[in-house]
Amino acid sequence: MSAPAARFDVALLPAAAEPLEDTVVVVVDVLRATTTIVSALSNGAAEVIPAPSVDAARELHQQLGAGSIIGGERQGKIVDGFHQGNSPVEYTSEVVEGKQLILATTNGTVAMEQCRAARKVIIGAMVNVDAVADHVYAEEKVCVMCSGTDRIITSEDVCFAGLLLQRVLEKRAAAELTPPFLTDAASIALDHWQSVDRQVQDGNPLADFFRAARGGINLVRIGHDADIVFASTIDSFTSVPVLDLERWTIR
Ligand code: MLT
Repeated sequence: MSAPAARFDVALLPAAAEPLEDTVVVVVDVLRATTTIVSALSNGAAEVIPAPSVDAARELHQQLGAGSIIGGERQGKIVDGFHQGNSPVEYTSEVVEGKQLILATTNGTVAMEQCRAARKVIIGAMVNVDAVADHVYAEEKVCVMCSGTDRIITSEDVCFAGLLLQRVLEKRAAAELTPPFLTDAASIALDHWQSVDRQVQDGNPLADFFRAARGGINLVRIGHDADIVFASTIDSFTSVPVLDLERWTIR
């Protein structure tokens, strides 16, 4: 039986998002905020609290005290006085188990601020894309919000949006649901992913595409190549972090 027409949109940058009421938003910042969040929660963090700025993160840490740690970056590097940077490989169970992680990043946690009006907000990355697709494929209105890098569109976030859409199309077909209406940006994301994926199938590592993207170039320069490898590993986690819009915490 067919469901009512669904709609799949992609905001190539937070500023390009249409009004988000009634919409399930998947926020993505492959390099690296959302990959880090999936990693930290999968390794036992009690919750992740996205902070809009370094000062807001410090203030929150003072309020929450010893059960919390504070992480994040500026220009990709750990912020002075923070416990951790924004490297998904740093967030091992030894570091995060049972802790509240307050995270302040340049683009990813700021993009989350744009989602306050959404119906639901999910945290997506290459590392959990199939689990996210399972969560959203039957929804009527989905928007992937790409965080971008310094207000510029980035390939790795658009790749995620295209791959998520491809998985959603497959899952809807398997469930005999009609394909969603695709906005122009959604079609662009799907085309981009399919073009990258053809080259990946020909033996070019996905990590190489991310290394060549704006955020990736900076990460290689400052010695975080391992993060790119980690972030380009598709479906290594099955958790689907959800941002609780009232409590402003991700679990
Ligand atoms: C961000 O949110 O701006 C990023 O994740 C940047 C980074 O970690 O390099």
